Amino acid sequence: MTDHHSTKTSTGHELSESSYLDSHFEAMKPEYEAMIRSVGIKSGWNVLDAGCGGGSFLPLLAELVGSRGHICAIDLAPENIERVDSLVENKQFPCSIETRVGNLTSLPYEDNRFDVVWCANITQYLTDDELGNMLAEFHRVVRPGGLVAVKEFDLTVNLFSPFDQTMIWRLYDAARHHIPPMQGGLRTFQLATWLKQAGLINVGFKSFLSERKAPLRPIERAFISTILQAHPQAAESVDLSEQDRVVWRGLANFDSPDHILKHPDFYFREGHIVVVGQAPEN
Ligand SMILES: C[S@@+](CC[C@H](N)C(=O)[O-])C[C@H]1O[C@@H](n2cnc3c(N)ncnc32)[C@H](O)[C@@H]1O
Repeated sequence: MTDHHSTKTSTGHELSESSYLDSHFEAMKPEYEAMIRSVGIKSGWNVLDAGCGGGSFLPLLAELVGSRGHICAIDLAPENIERVDSLVENKQFPCSIETRVGNLTSLPYEDNRFDVVWCANITQYLTDDELGNMLAEFHRVVRPGGLVAVKEFDLTVNLFSPFDQTMIWRLYDAARHHIPPMQGGLRTFQLATWLKQAGLINVGFKSFLSERKAPLRPIERAFISTILQAHPQAAESVDLSEQDRVVWRGLANFDSPDHILKHPDFYFREGHIVVVGQAPEN
């Protein structure tokens, strides 16, 4: 069962529950839309939304492929697929959408089936072996000349202020071997190399920056609070000085009148990369 007090799915992935994903998508919508539009998805295409979560990207994917297109949406968490099924039942999409529960490291689709694979915010959860397997699967299911597009956040770009940035670096360094999304988020900039190693060609990438400054909209405040909260939570489980722990506990106290979210100069940024590669023509 999903824990509704956390952002974790029944399959154990943090920051993957659909209401959290919706709040993230809404808070950063212009940047997310720019990311997906940068891929070059064409009308009539057959798309795989690999690791679709609660379906945040589906409305724009469906708009891009239009009524002649088709989307397959797959995810490991059954409750996320149920959520997508309910969206589809409510006929919110211009194209046909087929859903499946499944693992991206072993896809239940035949070779060359898709014009493009879109995969957002998944690589952070995968070990190196799983990432290699997943990219090999993407290569297999995309047609010759088709595209593989992988979007991920880049942890090295994360920043919130006013806050001692070296605290954040020390936390990421201490946490990277214990908390998979932190380790995965530090690997993001290498993804273009991973796509080339998977046999894809014409690999390129584009970076995107999402910045938010005070005053925040309620949806931005809700999303950014969840991200800030994840830091003191991580700090409790890794090896840090007591001095650093005390500061992180202070960040967890959102009711404090001195909390940084109430600061008139509050600033938050996160970085993203969209890497696109092409399957070679036979
Ligand atoms: C952060 S969410 C991203 C969802 C969506 N792509 C988005 O950006 O809104 C991560 C998703 O990856 C799924 N996931 C993680 N590992 C997976 C795997 N090996 N196979 C399929 N889905 C996986 C989780 O169930 C979760 O829905």
